[in-house]
Amino acid sequence: MLVSRRSFLFAAMPLLAAPPTGFGFDEFRARRAALRKQLGTSIAVLEGRTEAEGELSRDGFFQEPNFLYLTGWREAGAAVLLTPEGDTLYLPPRRPDTDRWHGRLAAHDDPGVAAQAGFDRVAPMEQLGRDVATAAHRHPELYAIDAKWKPSADLARPIARLRMVKSAAELKKLEQAIAASEAAHLAAWAKTKPGLYEYNIASTMVATYRDGGCQRSAYPPIVGSGPNSVLLHYNVNERRMDAGEILLMDVAGEYDGYAADITRTVPVNGKFTPRQREIYELVLGAQAAAIAACKPGMRLGKKDASSLYKIAFDYFEAHGKLGKYFTHGLGHHIGLDVHDPFDPDLPLAAGHVITIEPGLYLPEEKLGVRIEDMVLVTETGCRVLTSKLPSAPAAIEAAMKRR
Ligand code: GLY
Ligand code: MN
Ligand code: MN
Repeated sequence: MLVSRRSFLFAAMPLLAAPPTGFGFDEFRARRAALRKQLGTSIAVLEGRTEAEGELSRDGFFQEPNFLYLTGWREAGAAVLLTPEGDTLYLPPRRPDTDRWHGRLAAHDDPGVAAQAGFDRVAPMEQLGRDVATAAHRHPELYAIDAKWKPSADLARPIARLRMVKSAAELKKLEQAIAASEAAHLAAWAKTKPGLYEYNIASTMVATYRDGGCQRSAYPPIVGSGPNSVLLHYNVNERRMDAGEILLMDVAGEYDGYAADITRTVPVNGKFTPRQREIYELVLGAQAAAIAACKPGMRLGKKDASSLYKIAFDYFEAHGKLGKYFTHGLGHHIGLDVHDPFDPDLPLAAGHVITIEPGLYLPEEKLGVRIEDMVLVTETGCRVLTSKLPSAPAAIEAAMKRR
């Protein structure tokens, strides 16, 4: 029994050579085919992360998002070369000693590995430099992101163009990240009360979305009470919260690589003061105006014509000239990265997922309010993906009253 179980384990294909759950290899083949269409008869080279990069011992290994997007490959030390003749995945040499630590990793000479990985060919990593040099001679441009390849064209932009439009499988992942993160916000509201510390809320939120299947935080949790609510990227999270203060929570998880990004602002004691509610309603109004105008052809940038930012800014200006207290952008694309790459030349289009997150920050009143939702651009307008999490002040107060 023991012997056959052992041989079964070693004969099994490497665990991570399978595509990420919820995706078939067709999805990654289609993405590479779409990229090759943009490249014409040129070639592209892209490397994944190696184990030596990043803070592995702190965060564990996770794949570089562009590489993951194109290949679905989740093991370290790989690369891909795209040519009009086909796609080759390059794998690092086998290191049997590391299998004991990480499980069996794939190697280029595993039988059937190319088919398992969904590639035309799999080759050893040591061949990559030579193959790139040979292919570069035969084709007009070499697209790459890393300057070490001395690329003649930038690969980041064509990949960004693809990543902007989410597939059905990607939307499902985003929805899972959102559901777990919405639950985290509701858990935070149920817990919040005067005398607790910001980290009590942060830890409840992280535990909730981890429990909901998220592998990581999409970004460091921002839990800012009172004076900290006006600090845009505050993440110390160690202050004691008191009655009468506001609490801004910009916190969300990442599900199978896909990020959520959600902010809600609530009263620590469960009831907004009249001034807090006044500012809150203005932020909500600006957000509603931007969401109402969100559709293909619009843009996010401050200087753009047809700018959603400008709609929110103008709303603040029209209500008490408050535009100067809106001190950041209106939103950003989101996907494998919380700030997903985008092509600045392209307007919003159906299938894009963005955040819409206006805020007002009044340091002298120790009052910062941001409301951040995620929105899918559709053919005719947009759909708020985070709408299950209330943002109307009465709904927040009602939810906090039930504690
Ligand atoms: N949580 C980072 C952002 O809202 O962009
Ligand atoms: Mn955001
Ligand atoms: Mn955010």
